[in-house]
Amino acid sequence: MANNDKVPNAEDDPKVSTLSDFPDEIPNELPQHTGIIQRHAILEKSPTLLLVASLLVVTVGGIVEIAPLFWLENTIEEVEGVRPYSPLELAGRDIYIREGCYVCHSQMIRPMRDEVERYGHYSLAAESMYDHPFQWGSKRTGPDLARVGGRYSDAWHVDHLMDPQSVVPESIMPKYAFLASTNIKPDQIEATIKTHRLVGVPYTDEMVEQAEADFRAQADLDADWDGLLERYPGAPTANFDGQPELTEMDALIAYLQVLGTMVDFSTYTPLASR
Ligand code: HEC
Repeated sequence: MANNDKVPNAEDDPKVSTLSDFPDEIPNELPQHTGIIQRHAILEKSPTLLLVASLLVVTVGGIVEIAPLFWLENTIEEVEGVRPYSPLELAGRDIYIREGCYVCHSQMIRPMRDEVERYGHYSLAAESMYDHPFQWGSKRTGPDLARVGGRYSDAWHVDHLMDPQSVVPESIMPKYAFLASTNIKPDQIEATIKTHRLVGVPYTDEMVEQAEADFRAQADLDADWDGLLERYPGAPTANFDGQPELTEMDALIAYLQVLGTMVDFSTYTPLASR
């Protein structure tokens, strides 16, 4: 092949390594400093040895990953502001699960730029520590709801849940108008709260005793909210669906409005070790 005089000779180019830079090495053989690769061939040629060695590697790796968990009290960093759900929010959450909202909506903002710009601060483990079961979801037919709390008015949620296409014409979300005509009673809330306490949510005796009263108070404009807000700081209080009766719509909107609002991100700084 004729030399191309526009291209410098590789031997003269300081950035290019050629054979003349390694006079001791033999062309087409692995360079001397890769001797370990040749020793590895012993392992690769003996199935028994390879099996034993891989078991050893997996054992060491497993111990390194699993052992610390036996000495850690908690793998979730506690974050100020995260509290158990109020009775009405908890009932709304049960409706969210019953209606399969999680089939179309996730509740987990990943720490990637596109997600953070669209939905807000990425989700912290602590924000779902009282979720039994968690609602991270695995599909986003609709948007992530982890920080939907406070983004829309209660009235918007009512319109949207009654008839999503009335506010977002291209929406494929189903209508949930029946929620507004289904009354809800607090007769099971105490048992629900006790069950959540059983699996580790720190509901106090007072919270259990006041469960029915708190359930009614949160969506009642005439109620005294002091006790409720002391037990559940920052709980949204309003007549969510705008009707005198307490309905499933009230509970669901109370839940939606608290999502992602418990942690104050203007003062939150992650631990340096994270
Ligand atoms: C078939 C899939 C589907 C199901 C089931 C579904 N949604 Fe949606 N949802 C969507 C889609 C698509 C959108 C985006 C368009 C819109 O706003 O309607 C959406 C939007 C929303 C929004 C507005 C989010 C935002 O940031 O703009 C909320 C809130 C919401 N859904 C709540 C719910 C709740 C609560 C349920 C269960 C009662 C539910 N969705 C069930 C598909 C679904």
